[in-house]
Amino acid sequence: MGEMAKKIVKLDVENLITTLNEAFAEEWLAYYQYWLAAKIAYGLERLKIEEEFNEHAKEELRHADWVAERIIQLGGTPLLSPNLWNEKARCKYITPEKFDVVSLLHDNLEAERCAITRYEEICAQTDGLDYETFRMSERILQEEIEHEQELEDFLADIEDSAKCLKQYCRI
Ligand SMILES: [Fe+2]
Ligand SMILES: [Fe+2]
Repeated sequence: MGEMAKKIVKLDVENLITTLNEAFAEEWLAYYQYWLAAKIAYGLERLKIEEEFNEHAKEELRHADWVAERIIQLGGTPLLSPNLWNEKARCKYITPEKFDVVSLLHDNLEAERCAITRYEEICAQTDGLDYETFRMSERILQEEIEHEQELEDFLADIEDSAKCLKQYCRI
């Protein structure tokens, strides 16, 4: 880590690296959660949802990349083995039990809500103390909030369509 870059971080850097490595593990798990969901999903709006899952997967992988870069800037090392991902993550991988789009949307929604809490905490922890980690976490938080909204919107639309179908109305 650069000398001045280190000086301007007014936090316990080791502690911050541990937290960022937990977030790093969570991003890889979120990536796989979406990547797999896109492959196995069936049901209403399958193609649109598959596209959305793939889009989110790409964004989770980009988050993993940003977090890894920041860990390295801080003088740390990103987790060296995938074996550690589920162990270190607070937002755990949710093994899909049902493959219909509604169940998979709910699995991913749970993961997104956990991610929102994670980045809200990192923002609060670094606000005014580590501007670079704050800036990164704020950007990821914004994208996780968008992800949550997009999943909720799909679920609401599916619920409306299902009601409509039941009543034999036009949709
Ligand atoms: Fe993410
Ligand atoms: Fe997300």
